[in-house]
Amino acid sequence: MTVVEIRPLAEGEGAVLDALYTECLDEPLAAPVRASLLASPGMWASIAWVEVEVEAEAGAAEGRAAAGFVMARSIAGEAEIVGIGVLPQRRRAGIGGALLADAMVRAAALGAEAIFLEVAEDNPAAAALYRSAGFRPVGRRPGYYRRKSKLPIAALIMRRTVKKSDS
Ligand SMILES: CC(C)(COP(=O)(O)OP(=O)(O)OC[C@H]1O[C@@H](n2cnc3c(N)ncnc32)[C@H](O)[C@@H]1OP(=O)(O)O)[C@@H](O)C(=O)NCCC(=O)NCCS
Repeated sequence: MTVVEIRPLAEGEGAVLDALYTECLDEPLAAPVRASLLASPGMWASIAWVEVEVEAEAGAAEGRAAAGFVMARSIAGEAEIVGIGVLPQRRRAGIGGALLADAMVRAAALGAEAIFLEVAEDNPAAAALYRSAGFRPVGRRPGYYRRKSKLPIAALIMRRTVKKSDS
């Protein structure tokens, strides 16, 4: 399985993003919420497509299947990763790293000088991905994530400088 392409969400692919978001983050993304998120200033979403054997995989079209997404925004020289996820069966194959690299390229092209994100302290996989991509902790928000029947979890704020050479 190789990443065929990472490209911005195309017209008519909203449901692809909703399904990826819901499965990757275990949290539903309703179409109206997605539409209003994507309509907010500086926001974009990209999808990672992988090559698959058409007959072997339900939902695959033309030998490709959506495997992950990134949602990010860039405003006034600063970018933010709003969400990133890779389907459980496709993790540890470099897709998350490729999505993050693509977001940094787009952020640099849009004039961002730094890119920020928040990661829950109980999400070591995501924190490891961000560290491996050069993000470093710059702050902490105690009790930021409130999950059903769990104690509140702090968010780590991470930052990476974005250089023109990233684009
Ligand atoms: C976090 C996530 C996007 C990573 O995607 P991925 O495609 O598996 O990441 P990659 O294969 O590109 O990993 C790149 C590097 O990140 C680190 N990493 C990724 N997953 C890891 C894990 N489970 N444990 C330890 N390190 C991990 C490793 O350094 C890895 O490099 P390596 O495989 O050469 O060791 C994926 O686990 C996911 O979708 N998680 C659920 C959603 C989520 O938590 N999103 C982030 C919060 S919005």
